[in-house]
Parts: sequence; C-alpha cells; structure tokens
Amino acid sequence: MTDLQMPKTSQPYWADSISLPEFSKLEESIKADVGIVGGGITGITAAYLLAKQNVKVVLLDADEILNGTTGHTTAKITAQHGLIYDELIQHFGPEKALQYYNAAEEAKKLIEQNVESLNIDCDYKKEDAILFTNSDSYITQLQNEKKAYDQLKIEHELKDNMPLNIPLKSALIMKNQAQFHPLKYLKVLAEESVKNGAQIYEQTVAVDIEYNKHPSIITKDGHRVTCNHVIAASHFPFYDKESFYFTRMYAERSYIIAVKSPKKYPGGMYINAEEPTRSIRTTNMNDEELWLIVGENHKTGQGKSTMIHYTGLLDFAKQKLGITDFVYRWSAQDLTTLDKLPYIGPVTKEEDNVLVATGFRKWGMTNGTIAAKILSDRILEKDNAYKELFSPARFQADPSIRKFARINADVAKHMVKGKLDNTKNSIDDLSADDATVTRINGKRTGVYKDQNNKIHMVDTTCTHLGCEVEWNSGERSWDCPCHGSRFSYTGEVIEGPAKRPLKKIEDQ
Ligand code: FES
Repeated sequence: MTDLQMPKTSQPYWADSISLPEFSKLEESIKADVGIVGGGITGITAAYLLAKQNVKVVLLDADEILNGTTGHTTAKITAQHGLIYDELIQHFGPEKALQYYNAAEEAKKLIEQNVESLNIDCDYKKEDAILFTNSDSYITQLQNEKKAYDQLKIEHELKDNMPLNIPLKSALIMKNQAQFHPLKYLKVLAEESVKNGAQIYEQTVAVDIEYNKHPSIITKDGHRVTCNHVIAASHFPFYDKESFYFTRMYAERSYIIAVKSPKKYPGGMYINAEEPTRSIRTTNMNDEELWLIVGENHKTGQGKSTMIHYTGLLDFAKQKLGITDFVYRWSAQDLTTLDKLPYIGPVTKEEDNVLVATGFRKWGMTNGTIAAKILSDRILEKDNAYKELFSPARFQADPSIRKFARINADVAKHMVKGKLDNTKNSIDDLSADDATVTRINGKRTGVYKDQNNKIHMVDTTCTHLGCEVEWNSGERSWDCPCHGSRFSYTGEVIEGPAKRPLKKIEDQ
C-alpha cells in the first residue's frame, strides 16, 4: 500500500456532503416567545418542537448552524453510552439508571419518528451497538455492565467474537440501535422550523442575558432578543449566572478519521471500553462505504502534538482493518459533568426561565434530542419524566465531590504550570503553517506563521480565568487546558467559556 496522505484540512465528511441553508445576521432588536442560542442538535430540535406548537422562536448561532459539536459527531443514535449503567446503578440506584436508559430510548424514538413523518433522507439505518474489550482487566467491568443490563432488563447479548475482524475478548451488544447523517436530518428540522415561523440568525454572537421581568439575550452588536424563555444550547452555556458550570465540567477532544477499506463492513457500531478509545462505524458515501474510526481522547489543551492523534488512528486502521484511502479527518470537543449526567434545566433557581443543556459526554445525538424535548415540554407546560434526573440543581455528594476536587486541582496545576513556563522559542526557525510559544517583552506569546508566511501573535493568557493556552496543530487553534476554551490563531473565540478574544500582539 502506498503511503496515505493526511487530508490538509479538518473538514468533517458531514458538512462536505451537504449544502445547508444560509441565514443572515441579526441587525435589530426583536421579540420572541423563546430565544434559543446555539444551532446544534439541541437548539434546532427544540426550535422544531416549539415552532410546530405555534411558539414564536428566534434561534441565534454565533457562527453557522450545525458547525459546532453536532457537525463533528460520529452520529450514533444509541442508549449504549460506553460503560455507564453499572456506574449509574452504584451512584444513583436502579430506578434512576433505568430513567437514563429510557431517556436515551425516547430520544432514539423521537428521531426515528421525525425521520418517518417528515420522510427525511438521512441514511438512517438500524444497527446494533457493540461495547467490546480486548483487555483482560476490562472483562470484569464488561461483565458488571452486562449484570446492569440484566437488572434493568435491557435487551442484549454477550459474545466473545464478532464479525468485524478486530482483536476482542468480549463484546456486549445492545440490539436495535441506529445511525444517520446528522446534518441531512437536522437540515430538514431547521427548514421545517422556519416553515412554522421560526427565525434563524447566523453570525450573531450572544454575550449576555439581562433578566428583568423577561429575559433578554444581548448580542455582541448590542441588539436584544426579548423573550419569555431562553434556551442556552451553545455547548458550553454562554451565560451561567455565576453558577460556575466550568468548575463542574471538563472538556475533552477526540479525533475522527474517515477511510476506505477493501473489506466489506459486516455492520454494527463498535466502541471499546478501554483506553485508547477506538470507535468504528461506516456511512455511505456515493455508494461506497466510508469507515469512521474515532478515538484518542484527551483533555482539551493537554494533548501531545494533536496530529499524533490522527496518526494513532491511522496506524490502527492500517494494521487492523486494511485501508486504501484516507479521505477526511476532523476532531470534536465534548463536555462531561461531574456525575456524567447532562445538565438540562433552569440555569439557577432564581432565573428559571433561562434553561441550559450541556455536558452530553460524547452522546449528543440522544442526550441533545432528549434535552430539546425536556426543555420544550417545560416551556409548553407539559410534564416530563426526566426533568428531575437531569436538573442542573441536583446534588449527589459522593463521587461528584471527589471529581470536583480532582478537576479543579488539575486546573490549578495548569494555571501554575503555564505561568512558570519560561519557553523562549525562536520565531526565525518557524516553518509555514506552524506555531510556537515564546516570550516577547517578557510576555508569554503564541506565534503562528500561516501558509503565506504571515505571522500572527497573541497573548497566550486565556481571557476566561487566566490559564495559558496551548497550540493545537490539528485544528490550528489555541486551546485552554483549564476549562476548554478555544481560540483561532488570530485570537477569536471558537468555544467558551471564554467570551473575549485573546489579546493580539502587534509586530515588534
Ligand atoms: Fe477557563 Fe481558560 S477556559 S481559564
């Protein structure tokens, strides 16, 4: 096999295989019943559900719709969220563990109903989900997970071999799950929302909420959307009313490569239990199978050279699957909460008309869909069986507190480490499309030389709480190891909690 070239850009297959509608920027102050911030799966599904019930919806996206985490997903629609049910039973008890499963199942059904009722051509396909291990030390954990499935009466099978020829010792199969092309599905939901009266605005950055009698979303340009309810579905909540969501979640990056193999894919959506993560599914690209291999997770801003992670996946694919073409590569950022359950509900008790949905722990297709359902039910004054389970106000002391301490000790370590780092690399040695950190007038400075040899310099102090950002070569961004904020090489915010750009350093 000839050496495979790494694709130059990190464009996901999903966005490259569809054209999405474009929406203008918000240029005036307006009123709505519900203002939604974030055009991913949660925001668009909520807009669809609410607009269908004649609720006047305005949806704002800081960039283009479906260009955030939803556009970078693996798009598995499953209640099998890795090793989780045994842990949920231990932590919350069987009743709540079963509720979590039922919520994911309900999300799966809602997606399926939408696909059927709107006749959406989105490569929706039923597949089994397979959680496997090739590590002796994980066999017991897989057996415990099987016991949890037994206890919760989740239909499953435990096997020691599978049709996909990869090394595995044990596999736990959850039947009748599904996969799809997320953007083909959500494009139709967005269009249907607009047909039902929703207004969507792109390139409109929400920066704050003013809460008087009604909440008003304030945009970067100073416009406001005055409404009765706000849904913050912007991945990291753009507004947290000093409830410090960033101390209760951590951000992780993961990597996806899309390759072609001479082998025929035997079906199934695979994910392993151990590290490094290896998740595999296929999709149909022009009547050919495109294999998506996912994994190499690490905390944001704390990876090795990020290109190494793509190489890790490529080596795995070459050795275990045999591949002929390397077609796409991209990466995703996901947020995990202290107890692994998403936060879905009022941002605080006092401001209960501002609703958040975040912390989907890589399972955004089901968690994002159920979030949209829970929040729209709340707005429509309908009861929802899952509202307590996911309430951001919940407090389960034991594991949460230990993890809280761990996450925040890690933040403190990075805060100090970044400040002590006395790196002074030479800019002269920098090649095109590369970056380094140096000191200019004593100030830690991030320097990126673009493909036209133009230098871009930023102050590496994160504008959130002052940790030092690190270079992400795979995405050409500056990423913060503390709470996962990300900035373009010119310093613009790509991802919060930071709201302000990195300070630009002018040429010396
Ligand atoms: Fe919190 Fe950077 S994201 S300090």
